[in-house]
Order: sequence, then C-alpha cells, then structure tokens
Amino acid sequence: MCGIVGCIGNKQAQNYLIGGLHRLEYRGYDSAGIVTIGSDQKATLLRAKGKVSELEKLADKNKSISTIGIGHTRWATHGEPSKTNAHPHKAGDIYLVHNGIIENYKELKSELKKHKFITQTDSEVLAALIDSLYDANTTLADAVNQALKLVVGTYGIAVVSVREPDQIIVARSGSPLIIGIDDDETYIASDASALIGYTNRAIYLNDGEMAICRKNGVELRDLASQPISAQVETIEVDMQAIQKQGYNHFLLKEICEQPTTLRSTLSGRINTKDKSVLLSGLNLSSAELRKIEHVTIIGCGTAYYAGLLGSYYLEQLVDGLTIDVVAASELRYRTFHLPKNTIALVISQSGETADTLACLREIKRRGVKTLGIINAVGSTIAREVDGGVYVHAGPEISVASTKAFTSQVAAITMFGIQVAQAKGTGMQIMSKYIDELAKLPDEIEKIVSKYKDKVAKVAKRYAQYEHALYFGRDTLFPIAMEGALKLKEISYIQAEGYAAGELKHGPIALVDDAFFEVALLIDNWLFDKSLSTLEEVNARGGHIFAITNSKKEIQAEEVIRINTKLDILAPILINVVQQLFAYYMAVARGNDVDQPRNLAKSVTVE
Ligand code: AGP
Ligand code: GLU
Repeated sequence: MCGIVGCIGNKQAQNYLIGGLHRLEYRGYDSAGIVTIGSDQKATLLRAKGKVSELEKLADKNKSISTIGIGHTRWATHGEPSKTNAHPHKAGDIYLVHNGIIENYKELKSELKKHKFITQTDSEVLAALIDSLYDANTTLADAVNQALKLVVGTYGIAVVSVREPDQIIVARSGSPLIIGIDDDETYIASDASALIGYTNRAIYLNDGEMAICRKNGVELRDLASQPISAQVETIEVDMQAIQKQGYNHFLLKEICEQPTTLRSTLSGRINTKDKSVLLSGLNLSSAELRKIEHVTIIGCGTAYYAGLLGSYYLEQLVDGLTIDVVAASELRYRTFHLPKNTIALVISQSGETADTLACLREIKRRGVKTLGIINAVGSTIAREVDGGVYVHAGPEISVASTKAFTSQVAAITMFGIQVAQAKGTGMQIMSKYIDELAKLPDEIEKIVSKYKDKVAKVAKRYAQYEHALYFGRDTLFPIAMEGALKLKEISYIQAEGYAAGELKHGPIALVDDAFFEVALLIDNWLFDKSLSTLEEVNARGGHIFAITNSKKEIQAEEVIRINTKLDILAPILINVVQQLFAYYMAVARGNDVDQPRNLAKSVTVE
C-alpha cells in the first residue's frame, strides 16, 4: 500500500505534505505527488517518479503559499511507476489521491467520454467520475458520494477542489484513512505515523464512511449521506519510535530492539511465579477457551511463517488440538471448511493486508470467532476481529518484518498456554514454555551483541551469490522459509526455504557452485537427521553456512554456534541470526535495505 496525507488549516500545507510523505514512504514508494490550493484558488500540482526526495526537490523549486493540500506516495497497481501515473490525479476542478484498486474502472472509463485520460491508472477514472457528477448544483461531498456508489473495489481517497478550497473530502472502503484533529488544523493520513508530532487525537474512518474535513471541524457521513458521530481516539505512538535513533537503517534498529519490543509483548501477560498467562482482550470465557478443538491460522508472508512456527508450539501445548495454517492469499479463493469449535487466528503486523482482511471477513461471515495477533493499534483488522492480542512491538518501518515476527510467535505461544490452562492440560510443558518465553528477550540480546559482527563477516563471503537454499527440520522448517524470505526481499538473491527432509526429494539437484546453503540445526532429538541432510549437501559440493545451538561437530564452510540454554524457543534465536545475515547481505550488495524494490510495507491491494 502507499501513503495519503492531507491538511487544512493555518499551516503551510506544502511543508506538512512533504514531511508526512517522508513518514509514509516506507509503505509504498515508486512515485509521489502533492497538490496545494492557494488563496487565489489556483492549484499547484507537483509529481515525481521515485522517492519522496525527488518530489521534495521539485517542491523546493515551486514553493506554494497555501494552507490546504493533499499528497500521495504510490505503489503501482495499474500503470507503470511514472510521473504521469503519479497521484494526485486532476479532473476538471478536482484533484484526487487514492489507495486501493477500482475494479470496475474499465466499465466506468468507457462511460466517461468527456474526460481526456492521460494516465494508465484506475485512480484517474475515479477522479473523472467525480468530476462528471460535480456540476454547478452539486457539492464536492455529494459528487464524491454519488461516485463512490458506482465504484466496485477498494479505496482510501482524499479529494480537493479549487471551487471549494475550504474542505478536503475523504472516504474509505478497504484502505485505511485517519483524520487528525487539532485546534484550527485538520490532518489526513493513511497511517498514524504521519500525524505524530502534530496531533495525538485521531478519528479512524471505517469502511463505507466519508468525511468533510474543514480547518475547524470534521463532518462524518455514511454513503447514504446520514451523519455519523465521530469517535476521537488517542494515538499512542511517540516520535522516537519512528526514527532510526542512530542506526544506519530501520531494519537494523528493529532487529536490535527485539529484546525491548518482546518484553513489551510479554509484559503483564506471563507470570513466571505461578506459571500462568493472562491475555486480556481475547473476549473469550474459560468455557469458550475449553471448547476450542481446531485453530485455523491465516496470514501473509512473514506473518504466515510466524503462524506456521506458532502452530508447532500450539500442538505441543494443547493436547488433541488440530490446526491448519494457510496463506491468506490462497485461503480467500479456496472452497474451505472450518470444523466445529474452530477459532481463527489472524496474524498481521500492519493490520491492513488486503488478503488477510478478506479472509477475516469471510471467516466472520461464517460465524467463526476470530482473534487478531496484530501490531498496528487501531488498524482495520484489529477493529474487525472479535478479540485478540496486540503484540506492542511498536511501529515497524522497514519493509522486511523482523521484530513483529518474534512478537507474533510469542503471542501465539501465549494464546496456546492460555487455552491449555483453560483445558487443564499440559501443565508441565506449559511451565517450560513460560520459562523460555521469560528468558527469550535476554537471549536475543546476547545473540545480537555477540554474533552481529561475525554474521556481518559471513555475509561478505556469500554476498555475491545469486542463489540460496535454506533448510531445517520441524520448528526450523518455518524458520528456513522465513530466513529465505528475508534474504530474497532485501538482497534480491533467489532464495528458497525447504523442509530439510524434503531436499532429497528434488531440490538437492540444485546444489552446485552457483548456490550456497543455509543449514539450520537444533541440538535436539532431530539433530542427527539434520546432520544427515547437511552431509548429503556436502557430498554434492555444497557451500554451507550452518546456524545452530549445538556444540557437536558440523562440516560446513561457516558455522555460527549460538550459545543458549533455550531449546523449544531456540528457533527464534536462530531466526535472529538469519535476520542479521539478510541485513548484512543487503548492505553488502548496496541495496535499499529499508525500501527494497517492488515492495511495500503494507499490501492493501490484491
Ligand atoms: C515480510 O518481511 C514482508 N514485508 C511481507 O511478507 C509481510 O510479512 C506481509 O506482507 C504481511 O504483512 P502484515 O503482517 O502487515 O499483514
Ligand atoms: N491503484 C492505484 C494506482 O495504481 C493506487 C495504487 C496504490 O494504492 O498506491 O495508481
């Protein structure tokens, strides 16, 4: 997804818009644009391909005196990233920015004969549609309202008109929009991080709602133009949380702050004295927890892999519990069945991922209870689940998800403990998990401080490879998948994660000098099996980098042995080493670590 900002009041709009877009750039960044309207009711439209810094250069040369404007960073879905396709889009007197996809844009476009289309985007069609309805007797708000009734798809939009320069119209369906409230200033943002330092009072727009934003107030309506009462909430994020705080990249900061963020995930929820867990916010009674027989876990990308690892822990913690873990992008189109007494765990860092949100809505439609394991407070998924656990990992700015993964796995594990407690089963294994959870932040701290430099050195050895194979058994299989994802998304090396036992069924054919392998081994009952796989790869000339907590002999080019007392949660520590490895590989390859090509932090489109 990309970013939307807007403001109306007394401030110089251009400054806020550019600053706000910098804050949101991590969410989508192939092009950007702003429009401001001067007191002469003339618009200044500036757009640029590439990063917000390109737009900023343009703005520096085209200073506009204005107190109203909107801006956008784009993650292209229709039409290549270019200055022409960048938002805001103009149609007559109006300017529009849009997050989402207008699915019926072709049909709408075929009806809009008067508009001279200049872009390949679906968003320009929406702007033209609004303009076609915006005649002398129609207010901008009504024209937007009428247009949205004809639209199929998802949107978060902000619209301004040179004819009505005292207001910004916003509306949302499927893509987040927040209205920041201050005395004599109103802000628009698609993410709270653009409001920090300006106001901590916000109205989170819900799907099917729109608002007329003026400098001294906001009027909320539904699409039937009925007034809606505005619920002003407090934004809890502070400025420090969205700054690099001395690190070269947000990614390294977020990897290194995991001890702190994990402590906040666990805080007030685990009790090592009486070996118990208390998750408030599940909105489930003990009887409802006892009744749970099946858990369906959904998520995308790293959230999916957190769910996969969490499922192994849930199986150990809750006798007889059946579990399936499905990528949300797959589940939403499958004919799937949910057994009775199912509960769905919805995993999402941003709480805005379109595929995950669509699954959540389908699962709710079937009357199944849904619990969110979410990082972004107030996000759409967090507002639509029946209950859940905020992981409190703080804003995750780098596109590659790291600290959220660790906190999500901890939250899923705590959920499993709470269910086991309610069922009165597995007391022994439960206390082992609680002890290990409590130690995990300190153990991560040791990993980061003790192995960071060694990992950086190892990365230099493998940085020029173009292919990698990650493998691990049991709980290290999801970790292998996550490690491969981290590497591919920031280093652009083609990396695959595999269950170690599966290598001999095909993938081992890949082993040659063009590949290096990352072998994950835990010193447990499966260690010897994992060693056999490693030997099979060695026998075929593999270039192995092994990560393990074992002190046993391992034949590999590079071995990082983490010294830890943890065993059931040791995979999480191995993953921290992988996170560092991916980071240093991306740095060694000169990539844009925090904003890798083609990606966006929160994928709110299909
Ligand atoms: C992970 O590093 C990626 N950025 C991506 O796979 C991400 O995990 C996925 O898009 C899900 O995002 P969410 O957790 O915000 O739903
Ligand atoms: N679909 C619109 C476009 O491609 C908006 C994409 C986005 O959410 O950035 O321009």
